[in-house]
Amino acid sequence: MMSKGLFVLGTGTDIGKTYVTGLLLKYLRDNGYDATYFKAALSGAIRDENDNLIPGDAVEVLTMADLEEDTDFLVPYIYETAVSPHLASHIEGNPVDLEKVKESYDKVSKKYDYIVMEGSGGIVCPIRYEGKGDENNIMLEDIIKYLGLDVILIADAGLGTINSIVTTVEYLKNRNIHVCGIIMNNYKDELMENDNIKMVEDLCDVDVIAKVYQNDTIIQPDVDTEELISYFK
Ligand SMILES: Nc1ncnc2c1ncn2[C@@H]1O[C@H](COP(=O)(O)OP(=O)(O)OP(=O)(O)O)[C@@H](O)[C@H]1O
Ligand SMILES: [Mg+2]
Repeated sequence: MMSKGLFVLGTGTDIGKTYVTGLLLKYLRDNGYDATYFKAALSGAIRDENDNLIPGDAVEVLTMADLEEDTDFLVPYIYETAVSPHLASHIEGNPVDLEKVKESYDKVSKKYDYIVMEGSGGIVCPIRYEGKGDENNIMLEDIIKYLGLDVILIADAGLGTINSIVTTVEYLKNRNIHVCGIIMNNYKDELMENDNIKMVEDLCDVDVIAKVYQNDTIIQPDVDTEELISYFK
């Protein structure tokens, strides 16, 4: 049996994709779902004492979700340079290959029922770039489409989020990628942030399905578990 996956996209880098993915994975596993993590390409990996590159996002998520797994199994492309994967692979070699990403994803699929997949950067993230119009170029959206996944969008709850969310959702609609819901991160229950939620729900016609406060250790979605599970494709 191949598993079902859900793609966790951020409105940008450093927005809390890894943090929220960790909470989501913990939520699923605590509710009895055999779920794991996957990330196609990670940049900014740290070297351990044996000089191995450690994909920090995977370590963080596995720790939050209390899951033991080989991080190299969950992250096929790991770069040391903390820049977009296209530039990291120009510097270090080893450019991303879509088929290899799919092969790695399928291997993980055979072992688990559900995969929460974290994106790199925001939606306009070059994963591989060989030059204008080159057929080997890969943008993040190509990976989402190649794996046939739907998206949940992680955004900061605060000032500026209406613009970031609406532009991202419009871009996704333009590429025929379905957005199941939005999660507001670093949420403080205050007037502007609650207005942000109402505004993006009205402007995008997509619901905010969870709000994550700073340092939350669990996620309490505003949708039930069956609804959440139905987002996995
Ligand atoms: N709700 C939160 N409470 C406390 N800390 C948070 C929260 N959300 C994010 N952080 C912290 O903010 C930093 C950035 O978050 P995170 O690494 O999850 O972002 P990201 O979108 O995954 O970044 P990248 O693009 O590098 O993958 C991290 O140090 C993380 O621990
Ligand atoms: Mg991350």
